[in-house]
Amino acid sequence: MSDPRFPASRLRRLRRGPALRDALADVTLGLHNLIYPVFVTSGDEARPVSSMPGVEQLPVKLAVERIRGWAASGLRQFILFGVTSADRKDARGSFAAHPDAPVNRTLAGVRDAGIDAVMYADLCFCEYTEHGHCGPLCPDDPAATVDNDATLELLGKTAIAQAKAGADVVAPSGMMDGMVGSIRSALDAAKFDQTAILAYSVKYASNFYGPFREAGEGGMKFGDRKGYQMDFRRSREWRLELEADLAQGADMVMVKPAVAYLDILAQVRQSCDVPVAAYHVSGEYAMLHAAAQRGWLDLKAGAMETTLAIRRAGADLVLSYFAPQMIEWL
Ligand code: PBG
Repeated sequence: MSDPRFPASRLRRLRRGPALRDALADVTLGLHNLIYPVFVTSGDEARPVSSMPGVEQLPVKLAVERIRGWAASGLRQFILFGVTSADRKDARGSFAAHPDAPVNRTLAGVRDAGIDAVMYADLCFCEYTEHGHCGPLCPDDPAATVDNDATLELLGKTAIAQAKAGADVVAPSGMMDGMVGSIRSALDAAKFDQTAILAYSVKYASNFYGPFREAGEGGMKFGDRKGYQMDFRRSREWRLELEADLAQGADMVMVKPAVAYLDILAQVRQSCDVPVAAYHVSGEYAMLHAAAQRGWLDLKAGAMETTLAIRRAGADLVLSYFAPQMIEWL
């Protein structure tokens, strides 16, 4: 009956005791693997985001102070998102490139303070346009299509503003065709050849971005993002997006969301040799908190297992709202 290669206890033998289990764990997680998304505002008070426990919109000065503290504790990578007041929003999201935009002010503040952190700037217009789409819309188009090429021009301009303010990495997240190439040429022409691009290469039109849209106040007034973000019912399209971004010079690529797309993440990891990031998005974070609040699972254990799973699937870097808590947990 029993297979001689697998006598009783053969597989359990190496699971005995924490020291042996630690020794054999080949997937690891450290603070250096994490990027913390930070929401910055021009307001003067921190405002909690109700659907994302522990996450706040931070005024610029406070954000710089917090980043200083986190960096001193070993969490040293941050991606900035800007919350824009209604009076600064317009049809084209022009404020994104303004030096007064909270993202640009925070970048400058971190650089002025000499903080040793890797600063990423999310590069998209949905938090800056009055309609909430990721770029200007084609004129007289009832379907509210984002104008791809007009957006490319604005992306280049905004990338330069972010690089000037102090971004180490710009992270275009709007899924426009050709975005990486045009940002690269704009940066190079402005002599920012050392500013890297982390492309949101494989980004799905997901239902798990809901809480983020509250945090970033970047929800759409009408329509949806299915015309530019990917359809999760297509299983092979990721390869074309990946190839396009790599050919255009992406230094790093991202898969987003993370947990519901671990199959895609594993394939992306095997298909390229640039660093791969995965975004454990707001809805995935909120679900763990919601279950933990009801006592249905343990928050720390659930967060650790989930983040390890994202690493196991192949992510070098994980964008995670759990990052500050990981300072204590790891
Ligand atoms: C903006 C952007 C979004 C997220 C990151 N950048 C929202 C969207 O595309 O609708 C979502 C992040 C999250 O849910 O945590 N383009």
